[in-house]
Amino acid sequence: MTMSSPERPQLLVLRPLMPEQMQQLESEFTLHRYDQADDPQGMLTRIGASIRGVVTAGTPGFNGDMLPHLPALEIVASSSVGTDTLDLSACHDRGVHVTNTPEVLNDDVADLAIGLILNALRRLGDGDAYVRRGEWSRRGMMPLTTSLKGKRLGIVGLGRIGQEVAQRAQAMKMQIAYTGRSRKNVPYDFHESVVELARNSDVLALTCPGGAETRHLVNAAVLEALGPDAWVINVSRGSVIDEEALIDALQRKAIGGAGLDVYENEPHIDPRFHELDNAVLYPHHASGTVETRGAMSQLVLDNLRAHFQQKPLLTPVLPVSQTA
Ligand code: 8YV
Repeated sequence: MTMSSPERPQLLVLRPLMPEQMQQLESEFTLHRYDQADDPQGMLTRIGASIRGVVTAGTPGFNGDMLPHLPALEIVASSSVGTDTLDLSACHDRGVHVTNTPEVLNDDVADLAIGLILNALRRLGDGDAYVRRGEWSRRGMMPLTTSLKGKRLGIVGLGRIGQEVAQRAQAMKMQIAYTGRSRKNVPYDFHESVVELARNSDVLALTCPGGAETRHLVNAAVLEALGPDAWVINVSRGSVIDEEALIDALQRKAIGGAGLDVYENEPHIDPRFHELDNAVLYPHHASGTVETRGAMSQLVLDNLRAHFQQKPLLTPVLPVSQTA
C-alpha cells in the first residue's frame, strides 16, 4: 500500500511515465497505481477523495465517469498529443486542467509516416520476406516497386506533424499538396476537400487530429477518388478512416494499398487486415522511441510540477484561455 504524506499532492496513475520520470514523480508526489491495482474500483472508492492529479496517456485516456469519484481533482496530465480519449468537456465543466504533450513527438511521428510510405511503395516488408524465404536465390529478382520521386503527396491536416512530413517528403522529391480547416502560408497547393485532394494524390497521408470532427473523414468516396494506383497512410487516429470502407477497398484492390499505424479498435484490430498483402501494419507506435517517450514523460512531469507550484502550465489543453 502507498504511504501518503499530507504535504505531497496525491496522484492517480492510470498509465506510468518512463522509469526516470516515474522516479521523480515518486519522490515529489504520493502515487496511487490504479494501473496495477487488483481492485481499481475499490481503490477509487478508498482514496478517490484525496486525488489532486491524474497521470495518463492516449491509452487509456481519461473517462469522465471517474470524475464523481475524484472530487478534489485539479489536473489530468496526459502523455499524448492527441486529446480524443480525454473527456475534455467533463473536465471543462468541473474546472479540471488538462495537459498534453505536443511538439516533442513531431519528428518521430513524421519519420514513421515516411517509413510507412517507403514501406508501402518500395515493399520493404515483402523484400525482407523474399530474402529470408530464399526466394531471391530460387526465383531471382523480386517484382519491381514504385518510386517516391515525383509522386504527389496529399496531406490531410497540415499541422505540426503534417508540416514535418511535408519537409521530409520534399527531400524525397515528392510534390506536396494539402487540405485542412484553413489555407496556410506554405508553398504547397491547397485543396478545399479531402475528395479533391485524394483525386490529385498518389499518396494520401493523414496527420489531422482524431475525435468527432474528423470521424470517417476518409470514407468510401475518398478511397474511390484515390483510385487503384494510390496509397493511404494513417499516423493520425483509426477513427479518421471508415475502416469497413478501407478494408473493402483493399480487398477489391480499389486502392493501391495502405500504411497504417492506427486502427478503429486497438489493439484488437480487425482480423481481415492480417490477410491483406496490400497493407503495411504498425502497432500504434509512431512516437514509440526511447527518446520521444522520455521527452513526453518529462513534459507530463513538468506540467504537474508547474501546476502544483502555481506556475503557468507548459502545454495546457484546458483551461483554453491559458493557451498562448
Ligand atoms: C501515444 C499518441 O502512442 O500522442 C499521441 O496522441 O497517439 C501516441 O503518441 C499514445 O499516447 C500512447 O498511449
